[in-house]
Amino acid sequence: DGRKKIDDLIARMTLEEKVGQLNLLSGHHATTGPYARSDVRAAVLKGQAGALFNVYGAEYTRSLQEMAVTQTRLGIPLLLGFDVLHGYGSIFPVPLAQAATWDLEAIEQAERISAREAASAGVNWIYAPMVDVTRDPRWGRVVEGAGESTWLGARIAAARVKGLQGDKLSNPESVAACVKHFAGNGATEAGRDYTASDLSERAMRETQLPPFKASVDAGARCFMSAFNAVDGVPGVANDRLLKDLLRDEWGFRGIVVSDFGAIRELTVHGVAETPEEAGRMAFRAGTDMDMESRTYVEALPGMVRDGLVLQGELDNAVRRVLQLKMDLGLFDDPYGRSDASREKQTVGRADHLQAARVMAEKSLVLLKNANETLPFSTSLKRVAVIGPLGDAPADTLGPWAANGKPDEAVTLLAGVRTVLGSEAEVSFATGGTVDRSSPADIAAALKVAKAADAVILALGERATQSGEAASRSVIDLPGDQLALARAVIALGRPTATVLFNGRPLTIEDLDREAPAILEAWYPGSEGGLAVARALFGLAEPQGRLPITFPRSVGQIPIYHDARPTGRPAVEQGRPYTASYLDQSPDPLYPFGYGLTYTSFAYGPPRLDNPALGPSGSATVSVDVMNTGKRSGTAQVQLYIRYKVARVSRPIRELKGFGRITLPPGGVGVVKMPLTERDLAFWQPDGRFAPPDSAVVEVLAGPDAATLKSTLLTYRPRGQAAASGR
Ligand code: IFM
Repeated sequence: DGRKKIDDLIARMTLEEKVGQLNLLSGHHATTGPYARSDVRAAVLKGQAGALFNVYGAEYTRSLQEMAVTQTRLGIPLLLGFDVLHGYGSIFPVPLAQAATWDLEAIEQAERISAREAASAGVNWIYAPMVDVTRDPRWGRVVEGAGESTWLGARIAAARVKGLQGDKLSNPESVAACVKHFAGNGATEAGRDYTASDLSERAMRETQLPPFKASVDAGARCFMSAFNAVDGVPGVANDRLLKDLLRDEWGFRGIVVSDFGAIRELTVHGVAETPEEAGRMAFRAGTDMDMESRTYVEALPGMVRDGLVLQGELDNAVRRVLQLKMDLGLFDDPYGRSDASREKQTVGRADHLQAARVMAEKSLVLLKNANETLPFSTSLKRVAVIGPLGDAPADTLGPWAANGKPDEAVTLLAGVRTVLGSEAEVSFATGGTVDRSSPADIAAALKVAKAADAVILALGERATQSGEAASRSVIDLPGDQLALARAVIALGRPTATVLFNGRPLTIEDLDREAPAILEAWYPGSEGGLAVARALFGLAEPQGRLPITFPRSVGQIPIYHDARPTGRPAVEQGRPYTASYLDQSPDPLYPFGYGLTYTSFAYGPPRLDNPALGPSGSATVSVDVMNTGKRSGTAQVQLYIRYKVARVSRPIRELKGFGRITLPPGGVGVVKMPLTERDLAFWQPDGRFAPPDSAVVEVLAGPDAATLKSTLLTYRPRGQAAASGR
């Protein structure tokens, strides 16, 4: 029935109306809120724009849908897109922070809430998840992804797609997810945005692509192609990626949209001579929709008339767009998502904000805690919050904060005041800005700190130093913040440093000198309360790093699943090894790292089935004991390493994790499954499969640098376990 309706519609459409369905135009922000300029509205009225983005709000989107439905010749409703990366009105921690929770259920739930809020404001299409695997912290967009692990990234990608789309896309609380940026954007050269990625087939298949594949398997309805070129071909024109892989190999049936202006940029890349040629290349490569370059509206009709693009190909792209609109329920009820009373009740709902707070608590990573500096006692009477990020609402929300309102964000200062109540005196000094501190700023901060019994330093990056077009060549604490921290720490007060940032920072000096460091990322609407609760022991910092923290920019790229070398770096400057003369081979904090307020002892991994057969699975068990004085949550991570394989395998690869909460002295077992699928990798003959046979080291422990091991034999069909590889 739906198909017939779409076919009937296509049969009635003019060429220009068809191309209009493939044209996506941006709204803008005004002081009164988002609005679509008159030329954008005129394009909708003429049937020349079937989709808008950056417009939201129930009343406003309703008026736009009304215009499309009642005032255009065919009455086709609009796709309305928006970048909702970590919440719409209730802002969750940034995606990198969410990955630090390693909590797939909480992530799915956060996306459900984001979808519900955005959908109540008329948005039906969200440009998330960003599933690029990121290994270069200079790149500003590491904040938007799940970090460096492909395995974890693939699971998070699937959870996000499910959360956004829900069980039924037509549900007015669901939106279409748009997975981005396909592909290889996470490997953009030297961490500069928009540059080329040079990736081998193996790096592509094993590292970059699995989260995209997991998104397709989870039912994602849209893909956004990447700005960057891979092997010389920009994402928007990359037919090997868009056609051969995405559609033919993976069976993707949804729509492919370009990134902002990317089609016209093919001329700047130097792969198309004219915008017309750019449009033809993008369309023929499989890009259905043109975001803001207006190349399709200008060039596609002529190309179809001239026979350069087949009518049937055009119809197929239009059919995919109309199908998405139909599946979203837009033909049945174009206004179902633009419901002002539901919007009022939904955006910023108390339970949504609470979920954002709980997730922020789970995302906090305790990087250092010398002499049990933390948690502070709640009976402290004089506490100083010092630093440019202590009371910075927009930087508490972080980049891509959608419709989050900074003036409603709970800053760290506000959070500490809430936790300590009116009996305590909580004083504050900025100590300068993120970018600069004068001697007078530092003197004023020291005066405030001196009068306190404990000090909380709030340091890091501005939110605008992360996100799109926010790459940094130096990733230490900006400005004079280290000098500020040193001066405050030298006072000798119990001092905790809280970091607000969207990427790993090179903070070796701070790590040496600060007694306690808590990584808070950009924690979202309730972030300051979450951090304060953790600082004072009302919540447990439970996060583990989803990305390695280097000691210096010179170590980049540095990540847990690097390839081996014939001459491993065992120490700095060891001659004729893969070491640096001037730098340790180890990162500052390894992947998976994070302390707790208690301590744990971890046993070696045990296997119930040390000889895995085809389609088999084994359970890896690790004994854990809480050896400290507080109750706490241990996390065990599971990695594998091939002893020998025909292509060299990473020195360790994450394949699982588990958690257990234990009282002081408590013991327990964490069990993690390992299946034949976990042993698969890209084979020289072009299959993703386990090798013929192998001996695999199974490693487990609290982080990538602290592992114990046992051996697993992978036994191929018909061979005895004892024969090994
Ligand atoms: O969705 C984003 C994309 O991630 C980067 N360029 C702009 C798009 C739309 O805002």
